[in-house]
Amino acid sequence: MSNLFQNDLYTLDSLKPSLIYLIFKQAESLRKSSPTSLLKILRGKLAALLFYEPSSRTFSSFSSAMKRLGGQTIEYQNPLQTSSAVKGETIEDSAIVFSNYVDAIIVRHPETGTVKRMADIVSIPVINAGDGIGEHPTQALLDLYTIWRKHKSLDNLKGLMAGDLKNGRTIHSLLKGLSKFKSNTVYLLSPKELKLSEKDKKEYRDQGVTLIEITSSSEIPADCHYWYWTRVQKERFDDVKEYEKLKLRFILNKKLVNEKAGEKTLLMHPLPRVGEIAVDVDSDPRATYLDEQLKNGMYIRMALLKMILSK
Ligand code: NCD
Repeated sequence: MSNLFQNDLYTLDSLKPSLIYLIFKQAESLRKSSPTSLLKILRGKLAALLFYEPSSRTFSSFSSAMKRLGGQTIEYQNPLQTSSAVKGETIEDSAIVFSNYVDAIIVRHPETGTVKRMADIVSIPVINAGDGIGEHPTQALLDLYTIWRKHKSLDNLKGLMAGDLKNGRTIHSLLKGLSKFKSNTVYLLSPKELKLSEKDKKEYRDQGVTLIEITSSSEIPADCHYWYWTRVQKERFDDVKEYEKLKLRFILNKKLVNEKAGEKTLLMHPLPRVGEIAVDVDSDPRATYLDEQLKNGMYIRMALLKMILSK
């Protein structure tokens, strides 16, 4: 199966729906396997986790995925303070150095495009764990997987994305992912300052997804298949006052859920949340962000690592 992958995963661009469904199938099979049988899958394999930006879920789910499959990791949280990057080593040199020691590099970086630069220079697989405001392909795969597990399809869906649509890489990758499937409509709710860029809108529309911008939660349509809420990305603002002004413009709370969510509307968020989902939503059976979505992230990353690394 691994040869279906072009080795690297820094964008969703080249992933066809058939491959995405294969990844889901793999994740389904791994989640049913016994922990001891999993340990054989990546025995003897080693991955470097280089996270130049903070991370809790992506870092620990990749680490956990590698270890649950019997592989091992070299882990750098904040290489800018702890690796030779402190001395001024270029990202290209760092990639080459690590490629001599490990079988795959998993990178998160604040600058869009850096992961591709690393992938271009080494022959081992490089996986994008989030690059700036660019993409977050493994998050999109776990989000698609979560939607697919609930609704049994990724076609003909009506969804809502809310929050920081301009800077949120999870939004960008999920839109890219959904646009690969048929007849998807996404309602976009954000302050006008945080709307999707015209360039992004054109790209996703050209790929076939229908985008409808709304400006108030009163315009959320009935019976969405999912609501995908996101935090306003503080680290992308030059002016903290502007961030403060926008950060809690749209809040997902019990009242809104009661008024607007359908019986089957999945309530999703990539996390971390910083106030934009009230805790009174957590116990709602449609909320997935504190359980199903997290677990799915680990299984999707296990599936990807297996498909990329086990030959
Ligand atoms: C997201 C990210 O890093 O882009 N988090 C994650 O990976 N689960 C979302 C965010 O930070 O807002």
